[in-house]
Amino acid sequence: MKVGILTGGGDCPGLNAVIRAVTRVCVSDHGCEVIGIRNGWKGILEGDVLPLGLKEVSGILHLGGTILGTSRTNPFKDEEGPKRILQNINDHSLGAIVAIGGEDTLGVANRLNQEHGINIVGVPKTIDNDLNGTDYTFGFDTAVHIATEAIDRLHTTAESHNRVMVVEVMGRHTGWIAVMSGIAGGADAILIPEFPLSVNETCELVKQRVKRGKKYSIIVVSEGAKMVWESGKEETVLASDKTDAFGHARLGGVGDALGKAIEKLTGIETRVTILGHVQRGGTPTSHDRVLATRYGVKAAEMVQSSEWGMMAALQGNKIIAVSLEEAVKETKTVNRELYDLAKIFFG
Ligand code: F6P
Repeated sequence: MKVGILTGGGDCPGLNAVIRAVTRVCVSDHGCEVIGIRNGWKGILEGDVLPLGLKEVSGILHLGGTILGTSRTNPFKDEEGPKRILQNINDHSLGAIVAIGGEDTLGVANRLNQEHGINIVGVPKTIDNDLNGTDYTFGFDTAVHIATEAIDRLHTTAESHNRVMVVEVMGRHTGWIAVMSGIAGGADAILIPEFPLSVNETCELVKQRVKRGKKYSIIVVSEGAKMVWESGKEETVLASDKTDAFGHARLGGVGDALGKAIEKLTGIETRVTILGHVQRGGTPTSHDRVLATRYGVKAAEMVQSSEWGMMAALQGNKIIAVSLEEAVKETKTVNRELYDLAKIFFG
């Protein structure tokens, strides 16, 4: 069988580890031919592929990014998209596609499988950890690690200057990175989309700390958290009013808005750090390398057993197969129990 691998959506640490694992198992254990599809769904729309063998995937386990390139291309935006994909699958005699991606890439995978009968297996990727059906996506641990290290570094400068430090992290419409790095870094308040904390409540926590003799505070805010005012008014802060091919607005900037409000309402000097794409770059943690490898091996096995329309997933400590339908049916949000745990350490 000939197997194609693609990586779609935002890149994230661990993609190369999956590409390596899928290729190794398919080539060495099952004698398959493997090709890489460049730049996500764009590559299969355009027939842009490259051969992948043991040589090509050697030495990439620890590398961030993706050797295949990625894009946020949505083939369903063009009526002819699925037809072109089917044509290219045919031209390249592809028996299966392993699609590594988040909700958008796997949403496309699910539709191509269900509506056009394409043989696809999914692998859950995203630093946001917001994919349903799996406890963790690979890339998330690395992002949390980077954010935690940043919070640790901001702690010492915040304390030296008696300042409030606001740290904006990614996560889209969920607060997984914020809540995990906030707990790990000892944040004094964490603002996430799931459980809104108002600007006034945040300022109260800062003031409470001053009364306890702590003249500095670390506030972690997820990019998708809303600015919630005492009046009940809520504002979403966007980095741009443009949307991507899947209709997502670009988030970013809530940290600045929150920082300004905190300085104004508490009178304490406040600085803002937006971590941005630093959270997605560089080498994966050992945890993500192992998780990505386990996902890749499972995906290759799923291809061999023709488990089309399914995704490799982590539940408990087991790697299992769940349907793509299940994976994309809703966003996995931060649960109340975890946020309540974080709140114990606020203020
Ligand atoms: O989904 C991963 C992610 O990094 C989100 O956390 C963030 O909102 C978005 O992608 C940023 O996208 P882009 O790389 O297109 O700016």
